[in-house]
Amino acid sequence: MRRRLPMAEAAVLRTSARHALPQVYRSADLIVLGLGVMIGAGIFRIAGEQAAGVAGPGVILSFMIAGIAMLLAAMCYAELASTMPISGSAYSFTYVIFGEVWAWIIGCALILEMQLAAAVVSRAWSLYAARTLADLGVRVPEPLDGMIGQDGGFDLFTLFIIVLLTLIVAVGARVGLRALWVIVAAKLLAIGAVIVVGVLYFDGANIEGRIPAPAGPAPPGTDALHTTVLGLAFGETHTFGWFGIFAATPAIAFAYIGWDIIATAAEETGDAPRTVPRGMIRSLMLATVLYIAVAVVMVGMIPYTLMDPDTPLASAFRQVGVGFMAHVINVGAVLGLTTVVLVLLVGQTRVLFSMARDGLLPRGLATLSRFRSPSRATLVIGLVALVLAETVPVLTLQQLVVMGTLFAFLFVAAGVIVMRQSMPDLSRGFRVPLSPVVPMLSLAATLWLMLNLQVITWIYFAVWMAAGFVAYLLYGRRFSVLAPGAPPRPSGERGRHRRG
Ligand code: ALA
Repeated sequence: MRRRLPMAEAAVLRTSARHALPQVYRSADLIVLGLGVMIGAGIFRIAGEQAAGVAGPGVILSFMIAGIAMLLAAMCYAELASTMPISGSAYSFTYVIFGEVWAWIIGCALILEMQLAAAVVSRAWSLYAARTLADLGVRVPEPLDGMIGQDGGFDLFTLFIIVLLTLIVAVGARVGLRALWVIVAAKLLAIGAVIVVGVLYFDGANIEGRIPAPAGPAPPGTDALHTTVLGLAFGETHTFGWFGIFAATPAIAFAYIGWDIIATAAEETGDAPRTVPRGMIRSLMLATVLYIAVAVVMVGMIPYTLMDPDTPLASAFRQVGVGFMAHVINVGAVLGLTTVVLVLLVGQTRVLFSMARDGLLPRGLATLSRFRSPSRATLVIGLVALVLAETVPVLTLQQLVVMGTLFAFLFVAAGVIVMRQSMPDLSRGFRVPLSPVVPMLSLAATLWLMLNLQVITWIYFAVWMAAGFVAYLLYGRRFSVLAPGAPPRPSGERGRHRRG
């Protein structure tokens, strides 16, 4: 419990010639990285689903509340990332501040966030890609019928996108980065078109004074596991009224997931103590403005009762008579979801690489390939994402992704408070204003969001964490570089670029 990664060693990890990842990102790249991973299934799909069935037009408030909670957390992340710009992100921060067991637990939470999100979004990608082909009049050949654009069972498009993006990530960040800039620009154009055209069809009557009446107490026999923890405690359903707005908020938080992944790029970024905090906070603020604008036009175009939860934006435009926007949205979603999966895979690779470098996972995963990229870790992650996406009904597990993310936020906010006390003189590229008030507010907001997640999500999370803890006892504890008599850190790069 007491084993902590010494701060000096964490700093060396970044500069050590044997382990350092090449620096490829500049300040603007980080904002693109953030927008690349944030704008995806959350805004294209989940926002409308929540408006139709959980919060009505109150979903605009859900976006605002989630945005504030995210900004509080982002300030805390920014301070720690500016102090420890290494690729393990919250896992590494926790290792230095709280010790190895907690670091492992946060590693498990981050794996849940990124690995599961990659599977969820790949599946959503397939749905949108199939829709786009149908829009273009492309007919699926008979033998492939039932294998494309499915939300359950084997799906060919899901397989295609995961394999393609895994290979791109495996051959190095530079290749992915070029594609990222182009695709993010295209998806911003699509989101811009939604806002501009949507405003033309905006009708204030759809929004004004419209927090729909709560659905009331859960009818007897309803599955209590599927209500939120707070809803269960107060005997309310989590649909509509303020319970609905709060229940929609963590679901909406899925849309914001990603700014935190910028911290995993810190080791590959020039002047990271300054650029990483800026990249996180700026991309988050940009996304928040875009999301609130999209939410306003979405619920302003048609009454929420007419909203289609499966294709919310496209169906709203069709209903107001602008069918061509459905094509723009489908293409935008395919592009948008592509970069989400790409950056999730990059972030997940970096966390796995860091854990292996610390000996908590098999050390072979910490070797760099001839592309100077943790290609082996990438292939493992791609394979796991594929198996998950093809065999588990991942589209029902979005809340579990949010749970993993929020759990890490708790440790980051607490970490800021503890580190200010235990290492007050450390150089910090960014300081959370009004500490410890802001980190405490972040803790409170994150806990509040967690209580608004479904009971079933808490149960799945507890099972995952318990399994993770057993894995730590069986493997991580014995093979950690900090374990007595453990071999030194893995020897780093292989192939043409071996150095040192
Ligand atoms: N924020 C990402 C999305 O909405 C995970 O798809």
